[in-house]
Amino acid sequence: MQWSRIAVFASGQGSNFAALAEAERAGRLGGGRIELLVSDRPEAPVAKRAEEAGIPALLLRPKDFASRELYEAEIVAELQRRNIGLIVLAGYMRLITPVLLAPYAGRIVNIHPSLLPAFAGKDAIGQALDYGVKLTGVTVHFVDGGMDTGPVIAQRSVAVEPGDSAESLAERIHQVEYELYPEIVRALAEGRVMLDERKTVIRE
Ligand code: GAR
Repeated sequence: MQWSRIAVFASGQGSNFAALAEAERAGRLGGGRIELLVSDRPEAPVAKRAEEAGIPALLLRPKDFASRELYEAEIVAELQRRNIGLIVLAGYMRLITPVLLAPYAGRIVNIHPSLLPAFAGKDAIGQALDYGVKLTGVTVHFVDGGMDTGPVIAQRSVAVEPGDSAESLAERIHQVEYELYPEIVRALAEGRVMLDERKTVIRE
């Protein structure tokens, strides 16, 4: 499996997918190549973005399958056909089962809009606003069997401003995501992210 052969998984708008595709186009993913978009919502805007970028898409409805495991088995078959070595979750709103985790252990990463372990799960931005924190941010982490619990690769903070709404805070968090994710995906694609138990190091 080659680290440089990337599949991006997304369920919604796909603005992070677009930022990654643009980074590849501009030569900012190093040797990284986005070979495939996987989406569990064929009607999601991200599917159109893949078409526009000329990136092949695997669009499947989980409810068309008898189980989550059979849905993921279909995905794994396609990933293996394309020799994918790195899975990049970018707003993919489902938990991964062992069917996908086992063959791709240590090769799946996610981006989450908070400073984990604070505000895991859904609506991290709303959770941070409701809690009243002054600082939140973005985390890129390896995916394990839990909900946003895998080893942290990188974090950036974003200040919560007085009067912030979910929309205004999300906008600033997104801008940080568009910078951070391509940088880390590049390091992963180049095999520069080392993992030792829960500790990660990015080599220069
Ligand atoms: C991103 O902000 C990402 O951090 C978040 O979903 C958004 C997707 O936006 N992911 C999670 O909350 C994962 N728990 P996008 O579809 O425009 O890239």
